[in-house]
Amino acid sequence: MHGDITDEKYINSIFNTYKFDAVIHLAAESHVDRSIADPLMFAKTNIIGTINLLNAFNSLWKNNWEGKRFYHISTDEVYGSLGESGLFEETSMYRPNSPYAASKAGSDHFVRAYGETYDMPYVISNCSNNYGPYQFPEKLIPLCINNILNNKSLPIYGDGKNTRDWLYVIDHASAIDLIFHKGKASETYNVGGFNECKNIDLVKLLCQQVDKKLKRKLGTSEKLITFVKDRPGHDLRYAIDASKLNRALGWLPSVTFEEGLSKTIDWYLNSKDWLENVTSGSYQNYYKSQYK
Ligand code: TYD
Repeated sequence: MHGDITDEKYINSIFNTYKFDAVIHLAAESHVDRSIADPLMFAKTNIIGTINLLNAFNSLWKNNWEGKRFYHISTDEVYGSLGESGLFEETSMYRPNSPYAASKAGSDHFVRAYGETYDMPYVISNCSNNYGPYQFPEKLIPLCINNILNNKSLPIYGDGKNTRDWLYVIDHASAIDLIFHKGKASETYNVGGFNECKNIDLVKLLCQQVDKKLKRKLGTSEKLITFVKDRPGHDLRYAIDASKLNRALGWLPSVTFEEGLSKTIDWYLNSKDWLENVTSGSYQNYYKSQYK
């Protein structure tokens, strides 16, 4: 079943029909560059959409919360940007810098407020940058793989020294499963890959792995790297302290970045039809306006 979380009527009707006793809420607009172009769309989906889910859940179960749970999946970007050192902790101050981050911070606050106001049992997790199969090629890793395959330039914003923590999607899924079943109510858990990387180092590693897999001369893909105008308000560094999740529930990522990246590249190299399908049509317009 597919639907739009901003469609209040639809949300209410499926909650009334299926009487869900739990919600795992991952639906969101998630790309920072699109949020810079259209902040309102992010407020609508991420904030209003979340309120629609909270309202539908609250109407179903209010005063009868035994065995119920609303789990909101959020991002480390709500904490803003780090300098050269330090890590985001669950207690770090919210300081969102992009419209995307602000919309996710807003939705986190609404979830917590429904817990306080209506006693709704909730849990929140804030994760770092996900990567893996099926990621839309607006994000750095699939965008670069797609561009290498099409012999197009690899756009690096600014000087490429911005740093992110990368989390393989299967590891994020295992964390979600654990937090959903075992996480403590009203708690927040940070989920990260223990894996910080500067954008330029990531793209170079990606280029080397692709050249190797395609049995091409090492350096072929790297030649496509192009430094472009920086993203406005570009956060310098995200890094997650995921030790609470490890201490409380024993979670750790299962793959190294090299392994995760290798599996991801293999998936895209074997999924060219999927890539062609999702990059036709409106993707071309997005790409032209974003990278003109
Ligand atoms: P992205 O995948 O958009 O995730 P986020 O902005 O949520 O961290 O970008 C990851 C990093 O890569 C970020 O620092 C911005 C940078 N980036 C580029 O340098 N070029 C690009 O074309 C894109 C999409 C991102």
